[in-house]
Amino acid sequence: MEFGLFTSEGGPGPSPPVADEVPTQAPRLGMFSKVTDDAAHYHTKITIVGVGQVGMACAYSVLNQHLVSEIVLMDVNEDKLKGEMMDLQHGLTFCRPIKISAGTDYALTANSKVCVVTAGARQREGESRLDLVQRNTDIFKGIIPDLVKYSPNTILLIVSNPVDILTYVAWKLSGGLPKHRVIGSGTNLDSSRFRFLMSQKLNVSPSSVHGFIIGEHGDSSVPVWSTANVAGVRLSELHPDIGKSDDPEKWHELHGQVMDSAYEIIKLKGYTSWAIGLSVSSMLEALLINTRNVYAVSTLATGFHGIKEEVFLSLPCVLGSSGVSHIVNQSLTKEEEKRLQDSATALHSVQKGLKF
Ligand SMILES: NC(=O)c1ccc[n+]([C@@H]2O[C@H](COP(=O)([O-])OP(=O)(O)OC[C@H]3O[C@@H](n4cnc5c(N)ncnc54)[C@H](O)[C@@H]3O)[C@@H](O)[C@H]2O)c1
Repeated sequence: MEFGLFTSEGGPGPSPPVADEVPTQAPRLGMFSKVTDDAAHYHTKITIVGVGQVGMACAYSVLNQHLVSEIVLMDVNEDKLKGEMMDLQHGLTFCRPIKISAGTDYALTANSKVCVVTAGARQREGESRLDLVQRNTDIFKGIIPDLVKYSPNTILLIVSNPVDILTYVAWKLSGGLPKHRVIGSGTNLDSSRFRFLMSQKLNVSPSSVHGFIIGEHGDSSVPVWSTANVAGVRLSELHPDIGKSDDPEKWHELHGQVMDSAYEIIKLKGYTSWAIGLSVSSMLEALLINTRNVYAVSTLATGFHGIKEEVFLSLPCVLGSSGVSHIVNQSLTKEEEKRLQDSATALHSVQKGLKF
């Protein structure tokens, strides 16, 4: 019994084909005698496109999570690709052994279970995420069709900004991938920042504070104050003014801090990386081993909470091996719902000007 908690987003989908045979190397120096081929069935391969600060933070987090047997790195910058590949490979003595390869030919990515896309221009100081949109759309034209060509059963996990619009762009460029297999990292990071900031005020651990930021990963995001809780005790029951601009306790400032975080970190260190890397590797865990954890991720939101436009934005979603299997039917207040609809309209107004 699910009590109407979820809306189903699609079944498990077709089983992915067994990955290509892992190439069996010729025995070296007569040291080995072959008994049988390597067991390709257990092969879990992912691709990360873009080996910049975000892509490498994702790769590093995944490496430490022992989730995959192969990581393929793709970029247009061959020197950087080779350098990053070698640097990771030289640490493999200290991790569980996996295969790390890198290149510019998308054939390398064949049969990836998940393709994480972090490629693109990054925000400049003071630049909004939406300003990046056409530059990164053009870059995606050279990436997404090739990823899908070589891994038709893949799940696309889009991270590049503006992430909601680029997730929509990726879906359109994918030539028909089902919507549940095109996911944006969305407000998963915003929600983590939100929970961290609340945890600091309440002096408990971030993982014990539950709360979601939904909508656009950006300036029109929506903090769902009505459901923020610790152990099921809603903050809004104890403090009905929570989130309002005239609240003397100024809880609403936390949302402002979440929205400013990226700008502030970019001003201080030039880019953001570690938190998004951890957020992506946590989502990869859900997708690769079917944890069915709930994340605020960017998904096709048409029809939810009165949203009419064809936009991707973040809602709490169950992630498993088929991608987004369900969307949680959150009970939002009228005001939260209105803000979410405004977020959809803001995204749509930018999206409709895009040239594919
Ligand atoms: N969704 C989130 O929460 C979140 C958080 C942080 C950053 N980001 C976004 O992630 C993206 C990457 O940020 P970064 O700091 O790593 O930038 P970066 O400049 O360090 O790296 C971008 C990489 O993309 C590569 N690239 C450019 N064009 C390419 C192409 N056609 N094919 C393959 N690779 C290509 C570049 O060579 C570079 O290595 C940006 O769009 C940034 O805004 C998203």
